[in-house]
Amino acid sequence: MLVTREEMAFDFQGARLDPVKDKDVIVWAVQQFLYGEITGVQIGHWLYNAPDLESARFLARQAVEEFQHVGNFLRILEILGAPPDKAAWSVRFLATGLMGGDWAEHVALEMALGEGLVLQAFYAMIETVDEPEIVAILKRGVRQEERHVDFGEQQTRKAIAGRPALRRRLLGLALVSLWGVSRLEAFMKKRLPMDHPALKRLPDLVRHTVRIAELRLMRIGLTEAPISSMSSGRKLALVAEAYGGKLALGLASWVLSVLLFPLRLLGLAGPKRLTDTYLSDPLVARGGRLGAGAEAGMGNSAEDDPGDAGEQAGPGGRQAGHGAAARA
Ligand SMILES: [Fe+2]
Ligand SMILES: [Fe+2]
Repeated sequence: MLVTREEMAFDFQGARLDPVKDKDVIVWAVQQFLYGEITGVQIGHWLYNAPDLESARFLARQAVEEFQHVGNFLRILEILGAPPDKAAWSVRFLATGLMGGDWAEHVALEMALGEGLVLQAFYAMIETVDEPEIVAILKRGVRQEERHVDFGEQQTRKAIAGRPALRRRLLGLALVSLWGVSRLEAFMKKRLPMDHPALKRLPDLVRHTVRIAELRLMRIGLTEAPISSMSSGRKLALVAEAYGGKLALGLASWVLSVLLFPLRLLGLAGPKRLTDTYLSDPLVARGGRLGAGAEAGMGNSAEDDPGDAGEQAGPGGRQAGHGAAARA
């Protein structure tokens, strides 16, 4: 990742969340995470639209991992003795309503920025929840989430290279998401018991999280100037340009889809997918086996990483299986 674990770390000054006394807060957080993992189904859309084989292979593996995480959070609820429940409206809107409109938006806003924000929340749970099995489950999951964020960062860099208008559009959209996150600070100050040693640190954690996200956007190359140094006018102009651009793109693609409809019926003029492009795809052109040694951009093979993808929890008890067996 372009931002290290050390940079993302937040000091809770030793404050902990007790699985019995603070059960309601932990359960609420886990129910939100569970919804986030279920949105892994959206990967199906991006897999169908993947620009190259390397990305398609990464997404296929990511989908497997997100559904392992569903099992992880169900197991955590089981440990806590609480049922799964509906996620908050705002969480459902952020995770599903703000789904990216194209590949660049998906990798920048959902993977690099969005999963980066969630990762920060996972680190906070690991740091504070005073229950060893829950912490162990979360630790295994974050290694995979870090790879998802890393992929988002690298793909965003690739997408914006030589495309300043796209860079500004992604930055404008990211500013809106970060504004939404920063509003949480005031909400938490009003709603959380500020005499609880861990909960009173949450508004500070929100501020830290926004700072880290801004740093990530800078390192990706979405902005050269720190966002904190930008005037409100500059930020507003970026947001207006981003939404104006989205509107224009939406209109143009609607007009094109109407004009090209007869050609699409004949299988012509549709979007190019891997089924059209695979022969010139770098991984195919290189030839040979696509084994562990050719896992470009995929990190270690899941099957080679027993402490990671291979050992995820499921409801009804911890699965000590390995690799594909644990996923079955
Ligand atoms: Fe996940
Ligand atoms: Fe993820």
